Amino acid sequence: MSSEQEPGTDVATRTDAPERFENPGLPAHRHRLADTDPRAAKRAERQVALLFGLSALGSILLIVTYFAVPLDGTFATLFKSNLGLGLGLGLAMFGIGVGAIHWAKTLMPDTERIEMRHPMRGSDEDREAAAEILALGAQESGLGRRALLRNSLIGAAALAPLPALLLLGDLGPLPQDKLAHTFWERGKRLARDPSGTPIKASEVTRGSVYHVMPEGIEDAEHPLEEKAKAAVLLIRLDPQDVEPMPGREGWDVDGIYAYSKICTHVGCPVALYEQTTHHLLCPCHQSTFDVEQHCKVIFGPAKRPLPQLPISVDDEGYLVAQSDFHEPVGPSFWERG
Ligand code: FES
Repeated sequence: MSSEQEPGTDVATRTDAPERFENPGLPAHRHRLADTDPRAAKRAERQVALLFGLSALGSILLIVTYFAVPLDGTFATLFKSNLGLGLGLGLAMFGIGVGAIHWAKTLMPDTERIEMRHPMRGSDEDREAAAEILALGAQESGLGRRALLRNSLIGAAALAPLPALLLLGDLGPLPQDKLAHTFWERGKRLARDPSGTPIKASEVTRGSVYHVMPEGIEDAEHPLEEKAKAAVLLIRLDPQDVEPMPGREGWDVDGIYAYSKICTHVGCPVALYEQTTHHLLCPCHQSTFDVEQHCKVIFGPAKRPLPQLPISVDDEGYLVAQSDFHEPVGPSFWERG
């Protein structure tokens, strides 16, 4: 290899480079054992069928375990169930996956095919040729000829989705309208959380925010789930500062307002109250609600105001709910579900 320098430039120019390079082409095709030895091809076919059969057995093991091993809360049955389900699912997926790879590597044609670039829509001749190649590929893959392989694949593929269906069924019942209701109801006292002591209107001072729950929520069937929906913030404002909201006259008690604490964006607890501006701030994505405008969203990704809980006082001066919320609490998609 040599080079020479053009006068007045520093660009080196190759003088021994050929005019053009020849396409070296593809390396010579090496036949696999199964291509030349019919006994090796038969052996590979049996191996693939065995793997597909293993997959079918795995699916059956999972289904049998699901129905035959009752979960009675003991460690022994839990162990048996998990072992059967895990082993079954593993075998089902392993068998069908490795079987397909082994089939492709040993029995399917492995010659390189080159298709030159052409306009997006091929000519009719090209399309006919492509259809012929596809038909030839299907024929060469052995699906038509190799009945054992085809039938074992059909069996494994037919059973493979069943475990997924069974496991999906275990996700539990649909929530139905549970998300549209909370533990609040007419006459239910507002109680401090976590002490559970009811709160009087006279105890709510201006500038403070109180986290309250319905009295007796600890006795609910699922107290944590109920608390997640029923959490309320109690705030006392100067009634002169609050914009009137048509239809909500009488929902407050002398400037004491109750709003859901569950952010209408994706459900974080709205936890920060700015005393001077009367803004409630959600720490997750900074949605900001203006309490003076009935918790309208003034900043952030939330799309609707915090739902208001209508409240009043009972004969003893304790704050009570007039009803449940008039709309679902939390993320907006709940009410669209
Ligand atoms: S959850 Fe409150 S802003 Fe996103």
